[in-house]
Amino acid sequence: MSGRPPVEIDTSKPHPARMYDWYLGGKDNYPVDEAMGRQMLALDPRVPVMARVNRAFMQRSTRWLARSGVRQFLDIGTGIPTEPNLHQIAQEVAPDARVVYCDNDPIVLAHAAALLRGTPEGRTEYLQADVRDPDAVMEGARKVLDLSRPVALSLIALLHFVSDQDGAHDLVRRLMAELPSGSYLVVTHATADFTPEESKAATEKLKAAGVTLALRSREEFTRFFDGFELVEPGVEVPHRWHPELGEPVPGQEDGIIPGYGAVARKV
Ligand SMILES: C[S@@+](CC[C@H](N)C(=O)[O-])C[C@H]1O[C@@H](n2cnc3c(N)ncnc32)[C@H](O)[C@@H]1O
Repeated sequence: MSGRPPVEIDTSKPHPARMYDWYLGGKDNYPVDEAMGRQMLALDPRVPVMARVNRAFMQRSTRWLARSGVRQFLDIGTGIPTEPNLHQIAQEVAPDARVVYCDNDPIVLAHAAALLRGTPEGRTEYLQADVRDPDAVMEGARKVLDLSRPVALSLIALLHFVSDQDGAHDLVRRLMAELPSGSYLVVTHATADFTPEESKAATEKLKAAGVTLALRSREEFTRFFDGFELVEPGVEVPHRWHPELGEPVPGQEDGIIPGYGAVARKV
């Protein structure tokens, strides 16, 4: 979109988008991201499996939504492009689907062109904005999406970077308030419920490096969907949500995946 600020990449501290890229085997990360990624792996060697399981949830949920008739997608916390990206899944089912990607990290902005490659003009856009500023997100989104028609809002592996002090639950409520009934909310989120000690150590290490990690319990996760109708099977560990819609991730059954995923409909 127009008016993009100049891209400045801070390589002095780890960034969630770049660490995630490193877990997924990408090349768009820096030594500081790899160093912190290795510390996370020392605490729990399954972190790369978790990243892949999360990515696979995005693909299956997008497929489910597109097959259910959703034609507009707003994906906040998009991350560095990793094929297939959300628009490729949605537009494979429905070529007329419109997708707005949004992230606040300058490295994602730097890769926005790759994210949009191969998509018909005007059907996929990238917006540089922070989820903590829902008015700015919605102002950008409405340039591409018709907000009088249903939209799937996806916040995938995003909200654990948004603290309670920043009002994570209220932000979701405000974003969903802008969307009409028939819209959907899609969330995955890391939790300390299954691995409390490792999770506590990870949270402290990240905090010391300037990264917020707000792990939430099943109950706190479920509260994001208050007032909406959960799609079957409700709140699940991500790889058990409609597994029939994609391929299993190697290693996903070898141990606990400490996260939750769910999709809900605004009635
Ligand atoms: C772990 S990645 C998830 C990427 C993608 N959604 C996925 O699941 O494959 C988290 C993303 O959220 C972005 N992010 C973190 N805080 C954000 C904020 N306040 N506003 C917008 N994006 C944010 C990060 O830059 C990063 O790209």
